[in-house]
Amino acid sequence: MASKPIFFLIFIFFLSSQSHFSGAQTWIKGGYWYANGEFPIQDINSALFTHLSCAFAEVNASNYQLSIPSASEQYFSTFATTVKRRNPSVKPLLSVWNGISATGKSISGEKVNDSVLSSMVSTSSTRKSFIDSSMKAARRYAFQGIDLFWVWPNSTDLSNIGVLLDEWRAAINSEPRKPGESPLILTIAIRYLPTIGTVTYPIDSIRRNVDWAHVVAYDYHLPTRENFTGVHAALYDPSSNVSTDFGISEWLNKGMLPSKLVLGLPYHGYAWKLVNSQDNAVGAPASGPAVTMDGSMGYKAIQSYIRDYGYGAASVYNATYGVNLFTSPTIWINFDGEEAVRAKISYSKDRKLAGFNAFQLSNDDNWMLTRAAQEGENQGNKKHLLLKIILPVSLIAIIAVVAMLYCLRRRKVKSEGEMALGTIPSPRVNLSAAESFGSYASHLQVFKFSNIKAATNNFSSANKLGEGGFGPVYKGKLPRGQEIAVKRLSQTSTQGAEEFQNEVTLTARLQHVNLVRLLGYCTEKEEKMLIYEYMPNKSLDLYLYDPIRRYVLDWEKRVHIIEGIIQGLLYLQEYSNITLIHRDLKASNILLDYDMNAKIADFGMARLFNKDVNEANTDRIVGTYGYVPPEYVRKGIYSIKYDVYSFGVLLLQIISGKRNTCYYGPQESLTLLEYAYELWGDDRGLEFIDTSLDDSSSTCKIMRCMQVALLCVQENPDDRPTMLEVFSMLKNDSTAATTPKRPAFSVKADKNTGSTSASQQEICSFNDPQISELEPR
Ligand SMILES: *[C@@H]1O[C@H](CO)[C@@H](O)[C@H](O)[C@H]1NC(C)=O
Ligand SMILES: *[C@@H]1O[C@H](CO)[C@@H](O)[C@H](O)[C@H]1NC(C)=O
Ligand SMILES: *[C@@H]1O[C@H](CO)[C@@H](O)[C@H](O)[C@H]1NC(C)=O
Ligand SMILES: *[C@@H]1O[C@H](CO)[C@@H](O)[C@H](O)[C@H]1NC(C)=O
Ligand SMILES: *[C@@H]1O[C@H](CO)[C@@H](O)[C@H](O)[C@H]1NC(C)=O
Ligand SMILES: *[C@@H]1O[C@H](CO)[C@@H](O)[C@H](O)[C@H]1NC(C)=O
Repeated sequence: MASKPIFFLIFIFFLSSQSHFSGAQTWIKGGYWYANGEFPIQDINSALFTHLSCAFAEVNASNYQLSIPSASEQYFSTFATTVKRRNPSVKPLLSVWNGISATGKSISGEKVNDSVLSSMVSTSSTRKSFIDSSMKAARRYAFQGIDLFWVWPNSTDLSNIGVLLDEWRAAINSEPRKPGESPLILTIAIRYLPTIGTVTYPIDSIRRNVDWAHVVAYDYHLPTRENFTGVHAALYDPSSNVSTDFGISEWLNKGMLPSKLVLGLPYHGYAWKLVNSQDNAVGAPASGPAVTMDGSMGYKAIQSYIRDYGYGAASVYNATYGVNLFTSPTIWINFDGEEAVRAKISYSKDRKLAGFNAFQLSNDDNWMLTRAAQEGENQGNKKHLLLKIILPVSLIAIIAVVAMLYCLRRRKVKSEGEMALGTIPSPRVNLSAAESFGSYASHLQVFKFSNIKAATNNFSSANKLGEGGFGPVYKGKLPRGQEIAVKRLSQTSTQGAEEFQNEVTLTARLQHVNLVRLLGYCTEKEEKMLIYEYMPNKSLDLYLYDPIRRYVLDWEKRVHIIEGIIQGLLYLQEYSNITLIHRDLKASNILLDYDMNAKIADFGMARLFNKDVNEANTDRIVGTYGYVPPEYVRKGIYSIKYDVYSFGVLLLQIISGKRNTCYYGPQESLTLLEYAYELWGDDRGLEFIDTSLDDSSSTCKIMRCMQVALLCVQENPDDRPTMLEVFSMLKNDSTAATTPKRPAFSVKADKNTGSTSASQQEICSFNDPQISELEPR
């Protein structure tokens, strides 16, 4: 019985060995990043890429030199060093195309004004001016290559581009280089077909000169242009030739080398309005774009759209086209989800293409698509490794090894399941678990208990990161090296179950760079565990109050952290489709990633909040004393001003490095808030701040922060600013800011109103803020 599979395996090895030798080059994992502040460079997970393109530099209309738009200069100048911090071997490329705003139009074939590029390629002196300046600019900013992104050149332009590439390559080859410096990489974007109408690409020149060409394999069908639904990035199309497979085959038939073709992966899709909700097939009658002006939607936006309007429905992968489809009664969305990306990677491997290039990164800010693309790539690596070891030995040795592998494999599959084979836990959701958390959790991974046990070294104390009321938190490492934090609900905890459920359902819906990302959960064997991305720099409280570590956080870093917290809160309150009140914002819940970006953690206490209602009521007091506003302590009322209050306390701590559990002032009789307020009122605010901080070179001034913080902690929630107001007061020095009234929980009469804070009495009985019942962390 066993002999059949053995020979089958040998056969497979020989087949794959051939593919190994014909395509022995690095698999290219590329992506475009748009140079605007929308998605910070430091948030690019460059570990997932081999090449990253910073887009777009332009060509100057008067001297035809490469020029970087002044508004983007800051990004281009820091791009290379920033992406290399996480992955020193990633190669940054400088991408050129005139007109960042016209990119969408250009990709979809609308006429854009490319007369400058057209003139540049038309004469030898203008080409030279461009080539020389492009290489200088690339070197100046530490880019390792240059990319030309010009998607719809006409026939004259194309033959000129053929000449340009010859000259560009010659210039690159003869560039005097510093020792250890590699020649610049040269790449170009091409359409999915080598010939459209009478226009044909200069294939020979492309083959000769570029390191690779990236195929713009998307935007085939657009809701602004067609009356029938169409798959904009169809891998296959049974009824037409408008597909990636057809295009790639044409390129290869025309003599393009597969090893110089990189497949473009769209990180966006299109929404169409259906004419008839009953007819939602591919090719159904449609009446234009839906959801957005032109129907285009980034992957991130599609995900949240489906979560919020899907009523539990998910997208369906259609293998006939290689696309994910989602229909809600009259809206039809087609996009590349994880399945489509995997299919395209596997297709590219089969066709021996050189890799993929994502367009564009900000649409995949939690890296779901890029990780899906990675899966195919990892399989490829394993294959190569195996082949390198096995091929040199004789056929008999192969049989022996294969037989052994086969036996081992069988035994391990039986005994331990997936983990034994070194694969990662299945990213597919176990339906019953997903159902119990509602559809929002459906993109989370369900982890096996055995995998988590292995990842945390059997929950060893060496791996323990900390302990909260909820249970211990462990550091873990998945087989592929991804680091995780595992929050394990202690079995004795009774109140934790509700918070667990709460955290899964809410956190799964939240995706923002300033919120800690939940990767998945495990509910096996009476266990309840949450698996998060690991935050290497721990939490903010470990720095603020530490006599040595506080110096790590200079003012610039603290401003960055403050901005991160504000962005996270703005997302929770204003920008996501739901409104969420965190209710436990405090220094120990602000986690710091590798680059000291702040991420808000711990949504166990968070509550969904109806946008139409201004405040809600609860009979359960949660939160951490010192961060809880008076109206909540007194009446259980919570509103978005709850988090504003906590933010104010946190901000005072960030600028002062002081705990809010101690008393201050000459008689040590003042709370942190009172102390800050007194000093502020006496114009002695400087005595309050951390003496190590220096804001002289920052536009964000510490005194301004202090004033804003005091506004946030005022007694009356209506007096506190919204997070939007906080944002604009801190961003813009000229925005008017009122004089803060006496803060909450204060005994003294306010100078302005003469009223006494009513909440003093309640708080007096709790002068130890770490009361366990109220502090379930
Ligand atoms: C283009 O180059 C000219 C001449 O060097 C210069 O005066 C002009 O400012 C440049 N334009 C841009 C947009 O950089
Ligand atoms: C295209 O741009 C060039 C230079 O920016 C300008 O001179 C020309 O008038 C534009 N053409 C059209 C049709 O707008
Ligand atoms: C190609 O485009 C350029 C600039 O837009 C124009 O000057 C040229 O005449 C065009 N060539 C053809 C063949 O259409
Ligand atoms: C869509 O259909 C309408 C009428 O059926 C027609 O007038 C219009 O031109 C069509 N639009 C496109 C983009 O084909
Ligand atoms: C697709 O292309 C093939 C080969 O070029 C051609 O024979 C066929 O007619 C085309 N099919 C359609 C539907 O255009
Ligand atoms: C994909 O979609 C087409 C058209 O809507 C449909 O006919 C086909 O059955 C679907 N295929 C799969 C595998 O779902």
